[in-house]
Amino acid sequence: MKPVQIALDGPSGSGKSTMARRISQELGFYYIDTGALYRAVGLFVKRCGVDPSDEAAVSAALSNCEVRFDFQNGVQRTMLKGEDVSGEIRTPEVSQLASRVSAFSAVRALLLDTQRTFAGGNSVIMDGRDIGTTVLPDAAIKIFLTASAEDRAMRRFQELAARGEKTDYETVLREQRERDSRDENREISPLRRADDAILVDTTGLSLEEGYQKLRGVIDSCLEELACGENSCFIS
Ligand code: DC
Repeated sequence: MKPVQIALDGPSGSGKSTMARRISQELGFYYIDTGALYRAVGLFVKRCGVDPSDEAAVSAALSNCEVRFDFQNGVQRTMLKGEDVSGEIRTPEVSQLASRVSAFSAVRALLLDTQRTFAGGNSVIMDGRDIGTTVLPDAAIKIFLTASAEDRAMRRFQELAARGEKTDYETVLREQRERDSRDENREISPLRRADDAILVDTTGLSLEEGYQKLRGVIDSCLEELACGENSCFIS
């Protein structure tokens, strides 16, 4: 059976990664979290001590930056110069750095091939900001998952609090808005819904309700593709 590509885009905190991971397990697709690649570049910039607002300096440093992902038991691990940084990239500081460096064309070019190469021969659900518009413009299924900034900030705040990170809701909301604005307004590959993407808005829904809404949309798209759960498994 021909591999099926699902492009899942949306703003940060919309629940893309949690939902995509679950869907991938249920459908037997690979899940590719492209934000992790940008986060790895953010961490690289931090480690190099390069000013993240200096595009020329960041671009020059990239010749020494090798980011890729590995799959261990079907789970993505994010590798920076051979080191597994999957845990270290999940901090608010790295989030902000990733958002800054992701506006630079050299960073986007560096990561584009990595994303496309992997998606090529596999059934994947790939989450990001520009998957439906730029990375996989021919994806069979395109979804734009969103929720209000307040809802998304509350979810992120609860996630960080559960991990014992010291923060407050107002700070998370402010940082969320800053990231939204940078993601939506950058010149290259800004966050926007592809013309042929289905909008799924989970404002006011619990994570489970949001998941069921998204799953329902994907199921009907798969049915339309005549591709039931048993025929699109990873080979
Ligand atoms: O999804 P995330 O929060 O882990 O993404 C981190 C940053 O990377 C986010 O601010 C935007 C950027 N990003 C991007 O520009 N394009 C993607 N395909 C994925 C993420």
